[in-house]
Amino acid sequence: MKLFDVYPLMPVTITKAAGARLWDDHGQEYLDLYGGHAVISIGHTHPHFVKRIKDQLDQIAFYSNSVQIPIQKDYASKLAALSCLHDYQLFLCNSGAEANENAMKMASFATNKPGFISYSGAFHGRTSGAVALTDNPKIVAPCNAREDFHILPWGDLEATEHILKSKKIAGIIIEGIQGVGGIQVPSAEFLKGIAALAKKYEAKLILDEVQSGFGRTGRFFAHQWVDGLMPDLISMAKGMGNGFPIGGLLISPDFKPAYGMLGTTFGGNHLACAAGIAVLEVLESEKLIPQAGILGNRLMDELKTIPGIIDVRGIGLMIGIDLDRDAGPIRTELVQKYHIFTGSAAGKQTIRLLPPLNIEWNQLNSFIVALKEILH
Ligand SMILES: Cc1ncc(COP(=O)(O)O)c(C=O)c1O
Repeated sequence: MKLFDVYPLMPVTITKAAGARLWDDHGQEYLDLYGGHAVISIGHTHPHFVKRIKDQLDQIAFYSNSVQIPIQKDYASKLAALSCLHDYQLFLCNSGAEANENAMKMASFATNKPGFISYSGAFHGRTSGAVALTDNPKIVAPCNAREDFHILPWGDLEATEHILKSKKIAGIIIEGIQGVGGIQVPSAEFLKGIAALAKKYEAKLILDEVQSGFGRTGRFFAHQWVDGLMPDLISMAKGMGNGFPIGGLLISPDFKPAYGMLGTTFGGNHLACAAGIAVLEVLESEKLIPQAGILGNRLMDELKTIPGIIDVRGIGLMIGIDLDRDAGPIRTELVQKYHIFTGSAAGKQTIRLLPPLNIEWNQLNSFIVALKEILH
C-alpha cells in the first residue's frame, strides 16, 4: 500500500534521539532546533518520560472515559500548580486542532452564537472549524469555508469591533505567539484590546497555546507575559506530551459543564496522562521554563549581530529569524553540511527555531557558528 503523499519530506531517516540530538540510519548525528514542529519540550527520550510511560504500560494503557481515571486528576493538579491557573477546568483530548475545535464549541454553546474571528497569519489546525480560521486558503476545502468566520488584519482592533457589532460572534481566537505565521508576538495592547472587546460584545477569548505553551517562552503560557490577561479558553498540545499525542483545553470557571457537550474516546487515556505528568515533572525539576527564557534571550542577542539577518523575533525558545535572502537553501545547507534541523514559516525568508527546552548553550552556539559561516 502506498502512503498518501501529503508532505514534502527531507531525505533523512531518523532512527534514534536523545535530548536535542538525533541520529539517522547511517549513524550521522544531527542537532534538533525544531523539535518536530515544536513538540519536543523536555528533550527526546528523556529517561524520566520513558520510565513513566513504561511503568504505566505495565499497569494499563487505556480505558475509555466511562470509568474513574485518577491519573487525569493527578495531571490536572500538577498542571494547575505549574501554570498557576488553579480555577480553570481541564478537558483532555488528543491534538491541537481538536483542542481548538472544542474551544470553539464551548464558546458557541456558551454564547449561542455561530461566528468567529481570527487574524492574518493564523494557524489553528486542519479540522473543520480550526482550518476555517487558519489563514491559508490552500488548505481550506469548500466544505470548511464559512461566511461567518472572519480572518482580520493582525492587530486591527477597529476591524475586530466592527465585526463584533454584528452580534453573531461567539469568539476570537489568537495564538499566544504566531508560529507558522513566522513567530509574530502579539503586543500587550492588542491582546488586552481584544480581551476587552470580547467582553463588551459577549464573545469568548480563545488563546491558542498549542505551539507557544508549556514553558517555551519562559512562562508557562506565552499570554502570561501580559499581566492580568485571563482568556476564557486556552488550547494546548505539542509540548504537552513531548511526542506522545495529547491535547487539552483549559476552560475558565464561568463555563458550566453538561454531559454530552464535549467528548472523546482516546482523550485523557492513562498512557497519555502518564506522558503528560512526566513532562510537567521534568519542566519543574530541571527548571526548564526559566532556562528557556534565559537561553532564548541570549541566542536572540547573538543572532541580532549576524550580518545577513534582518530581523529576530520571539520570546524564549520560540524564535523567528528573517534573512536578507530565501531561507530554503540556507536551511538545506544547515541540514546537509552542518547537520542542524531548523523550521520554516509562512515567510520565504524566515527560519523558525523551536528546540527542546533542555538544549545546551554549546549546542545553540554551534548553530550561531554555522549560520555565520553560511551567511558570510
Ligand atoms: C498554533 C497551532 N494551533 C494548532 C495547531 C494544530 O495542532 P495539531 O497538528 O496537533 O492538530 C498547530 C500545529 O502546528 C499550531 O501551531
